[in-house]
Amino acid sequence: MVRGFSRFTKEKKIDWLAENFFQDKEKGIATLHQYLNDDPELQRLHDEFIENTISNFYVPYAIAPNFLINGKAYTIPMAIEESSVVAAASLTAKFWSDKGGFKAEVISTVKIGQVHFTYKGNKAYLKAYFSKMKPELFRATDEITANMRRRGGGILDIELRDCTADLQDYYQLHVSFETGDSMGANFINSCLEAIANTFKKEDICIVMSILSNYVPECLVRAEVACELKAFFPKDPELYARKFVQAVDIAKVEPYRAVTHNKGIMNGIDAVVLATGNDFRAVAAGAHAYASKDGKYTSLTHAKIEDGKFRFWIELPLSLGTVGGLTKLHPLAKLSMEILQNPTSKELMQIVAVAGLAQNFAALRALTTTGIQQGHMKMHLMNILNQLEANVHEKELICKEFKEKTISHSAVAESLHKLRTKP
Ligand code: MEV
Repeated sequence: MVRGFSRFTKEKKIDWLAENFFQDKEKGIATLHQYLNDDPELQRLHDEFIENTISNFYVPYAIAPNFLINGKAYTIPMAIEESSVVAAASLTAKFWSDKGGFKAEVISTVKIGQVHFTYKGNKAYLKAYFSKMKPELFRATDEITANMRRRGGGILDIELRDCTADLQDYYQLHVSFETGDSMGANFINSCLEAIANTFKKEDICIVMSILSNYVPECLVRAEVACELKAFFPKDPELYARKFVQAVDIAKVEPYRAVTHNKGIMNGIDAVVLATGNDFRAVAAGAHAYASKDGKYTSLTHAKIEDGKFRFWIELPLSLGTVGGLTKLHPLAKLSMEILQNPTSKELMQIVAVAGLAQNFAALRALTTTGIQQGHMKMHLMNILNQLEANVHEKELICKEFKEKTISHSAVAESLHKLRTKP
């Protein structure tokens, strides 16, 4: 047991870590130092995002250009470690750019928070107490909501919900919010705590007050469509049909749906992270939405209709373009600039498009060449780096594997041959 750890200096924390866990202490310490930023102010900013920071953990920050969304050109920033995601996004953006691009629309922007409480008394009395208190509950949040109300947001409604059929004595105040351009987590939680404090009394026991990451009324839709003949160079009808079948399989088969949606989240999370938004919240909400009808299913849909291929996504996204890390993390701020400083509604559209594009790339590869061809092409550099190939070796091996099937063992063998060639 280590006591008072959070009060140790960073160096002392690193020493403690090296002493207790590193096989090669010097090397471990050097690696941590290597990833610290040379600019002390910038490093301090990162240190202070969380507690016990000992270094930084990089993921690549990339851009996917050529996205046409509602007639406007976008370059989309993505932070992700998986080899093929950005390449897939770029290819898909280019594919759709001369077919009218992506159309996207925000359907709704309502967010939810709940005060969970228990009450053993008379239900009619509770209902009457709630009705009497409701204006008070709004008043209790007046100060917190003043700024948000000026920007057109605030609390939309507070409902009393009887949940005693599911859990004994359990009730909620179910509160709906409009949070404008902010994701609104702190705003919602502060409002809920003020509401709970005003509502509580001897026989009303507040269990907790917290926003919900399930936001089925904060919905966005993005879609693409093209003439069937433009779908694929060879036998477009066959491949469009296979594509639709692939989506239909994900609709009925949860084992496939989870992987299908994971591919969608490759695109979504990468943009969410690059813009300083909370990708865990977004992922939790998206997967919950995928099971909203009682069975986990695809977040995308496809059909062939009147000689046209249509493909679309509908999912909840709670995102901010102000607040949180969005303006605090210098790269998140830069991402917003790359995206031409979008409103949160525009960001919802961009992120939904990134998810749809990623799913399009995955399904097109899966139903034509198979996924490994493109994936391994991108992964080749990781294999070469693992094998500590130098620049010259990388160049030769990449050339050699242009037409060959890539596997770890095949690359290792080629590299070995190259190194032992007389
Ligand atoms: C890999 O990260 C994502 C895919 O598995 C998605 C899919 O299968 O649709 C390629």
